[in-house]
Amino acid sequence: MTEPWIATKELCRYYQRGPQEIRAVDSVNLNIARGEFVGIVGSSGSGKSTLLNLLAGLDTPTSGSIAVGATVLSALSRRGLAGYRARQVGMIFQTFNLLPHHTALRNVEVALYFNDTPRNERHKRASEILTNLGMGDRLEHRPNALSGGEQQRVAIARALVKRPEVIFADEPTGNLDYENARQIAALLTDLNKEGLTVVMVSHDLELARSICSRIIKMHYGRVVEDSGAQR
Ligand SMILES: Nc1ncnc2c1ncn2[C@@H]1O[C@H](COP(=O)(O)OP(=O)(O)OP(=O)(O)O)[C@@H](O)[C@H]1O
Ligand SMILES: [Mg+2]
Repeated sequence: MTEPWIATKELCRYYQRGPQEIRAVDSVNLNIARGEFVGIVGSSGSGKSTLLNLLAGLDTPTSGSIAVGATVLSALSRRGLAGYRARQVGMIFQTFNLLPHHTALRNVEVALYFNDTPRNERHKRASEILTNLGMGDRLEHRPNALSGGEQQRVAIARALVKRPEVIFADEPTGNLDYENARQIAALLTDLNKEGLTVVMVSHDLELARSICSRIIKMHYGRVVEDSGAQR
């Protein structure tokens, strides 16, 4: 078995809705090694986004623990968790979540405001990474002047510019047409081949099977299948 890097123990996230308790994530024990490309699949409401947000430090568990290397996320203060997100995590969303009034370049630079990168360096790194992603002639465009695929490239650049250790992606191809989805999938595959750990939520089992090295299926908050569990 490869050494676990991200490890959850009896991880739970419950929501109270009136008298009803919703077990969005329910007793999940998961080990992810560095360099894996994990696909999380399952029907709508099965807890995929909730699990991803917990791993990314955007949400905190009701009970159980998450460790990333030597860092126990569940023991960090809000500030500690913000530091984890700023330094170690790149996040990509289905709806891109770009700042509408800022250019592509500025949207990427913004990711470096929170980790003490000097201004010149922010500019240099952001333009380099956008250029590498084929967006060199779109630096000054605002999101509404970009196609969906281009907006997602900006969002990926924003996630990568921090040089994160892991990328968490929630339905990154969910709002894209077939061709753009294929290109974004290829981009994530390349990044993983270069050594980046990727955890991606997808509705699209076929797409996930074609690019991920391991598939985890969720149902009612639980992991019900894990193609990598034996390793
Ligand atoms: N803030 C919240 N308050 C109450 N219930 C919530 C909240 N967020 C999620 N839930 C519930 O938790 C369960 C899991 O939601 P989650 O968003 O993780 O599902 P998902 O697998 O990502 O679904 P989808 O494929 O539709 O994105 C659902 O029943 C949902 O209604
Ligand atoms: Mg979701």
